[in-house]
Amino acid sequence: TMVSLNASNVSLDATTPVAVIGAGSMGAGIAQVAAQAGHAVRLFDLQAGAAARALARIADDLAGAVQRGKLTATERDATLARLSVAEQLTDLAGCGLAVEAIVEKLEPKQALFAELEKVLGPQAVLATNTSSISVTAVAQKLAQPQRFIGWHFFNPATRMKLVEIISGVATDPALVAPMQALTRAWGKVPVLAPNAPGFIVNRVARPYYAEGLRLLAERVADVASIDTLLRQAGGFVMGPFELMDLIGVEVNLSVTTSVFEATAFDPRYAPHLIQQELVRSGRFGRKTGHGFYRYEGGKPQGAA
Ligand code: NAI
Repeated sequence: TMVSLNASNVSLDATTPVAVIGAGSMGAGIAQVAAQAGHAVRLFDLQAGAAARALARIADDLAGAVQRGKLTATERDATLARLSVAEQLTDLAGCGLAVEAIVEKLEPKQALFAELEKVLGPQAVLATNTSSISVTAVAQKLAQPQRFIGWHFFNPATRMKLVEIISGVATDPALVAPMQALTRAWGKVPVLAPNAPGFIVNRVARPYYAEGLRLLAERVADVASIDTLLRQAGGFVMGPFELMDLIGVEVNLSVTTSVFEATAFDPRYAPHLIQQELVRSGRFGRKTGHGFYRYEGGKPQGAA
């Protein structure tokens, strides 16, 4: 029989084992943050070897922190000891919290959560790191959508403090307070956002990218000039193109497309042809070594 979730039976603290599904940029970052906060973390990815590669990237990052004097070698070793690879989805059984960071598409997310619900116990909390897809829609195939919530980290998850918490229509309101507390326990700053297209940050960010792309298409300025001007004169930490390269040009396009569709095709959010063409040619940004810029050893080599 199903136990329905309520505030008194949600327990989320450092003793809660955490499952992270999707070991790309975001999943690896979230897994690292969880492990540094003291959780045992199991990382699963559909692609063979991806979770192991993510653990190697985490080890590198922690080694860098030790070198810079931000972390002791003992803390590093303890963090790494808490991280493990799940070879199969069923290896996630026993986790009290699952965080999904797979591809930004509705159907794969729905299918994954339907499977996860069978693997995890009825008390487990299910969270999606989606940037833009309706939390209500992702929860649609669940028998217990009340235990489902949006938990949106920013890139890089190890450094960005802000986390949006998004309740879907079926989310138990009693889940919000424990999630806020957990977010703070992970050293982050929780902000409640409505389940509206793009939530808050990704909605406000759309015109930033779109206007940069329009300037580029009109040949007003080149990629590097636009980025430099927005950094130097605009006060932004990153210009629109270097930011798209960091986020993943294809991830950014998925977000734009999903906001465009969710706003009944409001032309303000129409994906730009330049970005679509980049994605069609496999130029996803830093992760492929080529996006709006070319990269070598993770360092930009000038506009591509
Ligand atoms: P990514 O492309 O780096 O990683 C996605 C990973 O998920 C890949 O390793 C892939 O093999 C795996 N995967 C795909 N389908 C799967 C499945 N069915 N089961 C298990 N693993 C599967 O993507 P990234 O950038 O880490 O984004 C992941 C999610 O996080 C997306 O929903 C995205 O919108 C969201 N997000 C991304 C941000 C960004 O700046 N890139 C920021 C905040 C959220």
